[in-house]
Amino acid sequence: MNCAVLAVLVVVCCCCALSVDARPARLRSRPLDNPETWNNVMVMAKHAQAQDRDHETRLIPVISSDKLKDGDVCCANVKILDYYLRHILDGKVREGREHNYPRIHLVNPDLNRVARDLEPHCNAKQIDLEYLQTFKQNLDRAGEMYKNNTKAQNKAIGETDILFHYLYESCSATSTS
Ligand SMILES: *[C@@H]1O[C@H](CO)[C@@H](O)[C@H](O)[C@H]1NC(C)=O
Repeated sequence: MNCAVLAVLVVVCCCCALSVDARPARLRSRPLDNPETWNNVMVMAKHAQAQDRDHETRLIPVISSDKLKDGDVCCANVKILDYYLRHILDGKVREGREHNYPRIHLVNPDLNRVARDLEPHCNAKQIDLEYLQTFKQNLDRAGEMYKNNTKAQNKAIGETDILFHYLYESCSATSTS
């Protein structure tokens, strides 16, 4: 009798342990895994790149693939995403720049969703803010170099594919701290 009870308990406990394990602990923003979003980002970015004659400058600081996977850089990328949304993409949507940036009206809400999903899990650390600072400096310098901020913003839009790739790689379940 006691053995039977014990056996049942063991089974119940195993089930509990399994169901806890199987529970999706993943915290992942859906548009990152949506092929349509990927495609729209690529189309928009390629159009911006085609309008860009400066192939030397790069605005988004480079992150190695090792660091993307293990380096806790999700929130740094979310900070840049937030800047894109507030200062670059929303404005282009409001100005109706779809002829320059096709699909921006689809990309913008998807990226807003990514920011909304991930931002609450980010405690901005000094290193994240420095990364954003570097990006902003690069953007300002490009604007000065071209004597045209619109062109610098166009370059930033041309790098949306890089940003999306970085978010995809760095913002997995466990690295949203
Ligand atoms: C800045 O660049 C944009 C896009 O290339 C262009 O339409 C605009 O005329 C430029 N502005 C100035 C002041 O040169």
